[in-house]
Amino acid sequence: MTATLMADAVELAYDERVISTDLTVGIPEHEFTVVIGPNACGKSTLLKALARLLPPRDGHVTLDGRDVKAFGSKEFARALALLPQSSQAPAGISVSDLVARGRFPHQRFLQQWSAADEAAIARAMTATGVDELALRPVDELSGGQRQRAWLAMVLAQDAPITVLDEPTTFLDIAHQIEVLDLCESLHAEGGRTIVAVLHDLNQAARYGTHIIAMKDGEVVAEGVPDEVITVDLVAEVFGVRARILVEPESGSPFVMPLGLVGRP
Ligand SMILES: Nc1ncnc2c1ncn2[C@@H]1O[C@H](COP(=O)(O)OP(=O)(O)OP(=O)(O)O)[C@@H](O)[C@H]1O
Ligand SMILES: [Mg+2]
Repeated sequence: MTATLMADAVELAYDERVISTDLTVGIPEHEFTVVIGPNACGKSTLLKALARLLPPRDGHVTLDGRDVKAFGSKEFARALALLPQSSQAPAGISVSDLVARGRFPHQRFLQQWSAADEAAIARAMTATGVDELALRPVDELSGGQRQRAWLAMVLAQDAPITVLDEPTTFLDIAHQIEVLDLCESLHAEGGRTIVAVLHDLNQAARYGTHIIAMKDGEVVAEGVPDEVITVDLVAEVFGVRARILVEPESGSPFVMPLGLVGRP
């Protein structure tokens, strides 16, 4: 399995607070990687490091073997698009203007909007169902509408690697499935490398082709869903007793939580 995006022996920290030491993790090319793990275990911190928002204190993050620090900012944004866990839109900006910002890395100095820009924006807005919200200010939207507008911006960026930190947060069940189906088709038909943090283990197992399980800033298991999502792993990582069934249609593991470890 080739890993184009890679954290190599990184130390990740915020001032005095060290989150990960000597962490090595590869994001396999063309896979749909899902990162799972409890709150505060360092998932977003890892994603920020991969997306160059948090420079590692030690070690390197590389893309195609090249240190991400060496990329120009537009060049990096053409390669990797990030949906952060929470984002603040500029006050009063409309949905269509927000989505259009996704095209910024593709624009050259003094260049007009191209047909490719318009097409990418239209495609992203339709795929996320925000067409009818185009003229609405982002700060007046519901949580789920806002999440979809940000997702449209990230998709308009049209990068071969798309990194999504909890893309399903705030979404109702239908919109969750819509977003995950969209990621799946980008991965299966478009060959995109997807990395997403999900809290729903059943969605992780159903959609992920590669799972990275984290705990306390470390990767405790990685691989295909049915090798990673096991009774022992759910107990170790989440402190939850669970039964693992096999979902009959997809054959993927299905986690049924029974209780907390050590409690009846
Ligand atoms: N900007 C920051 N400054 C200081 N500490 C931070 C900062 N961001 C995160 N942390 C701390 O780093 C640790 C890991 O946080 P991180 O956001 O990576 O967790 P997470 O696994 O994404 O959790 P969640 O599932 O809640 O999103 C936490 O203890 C958190 O308090
Ligand atoms: Mg997080």
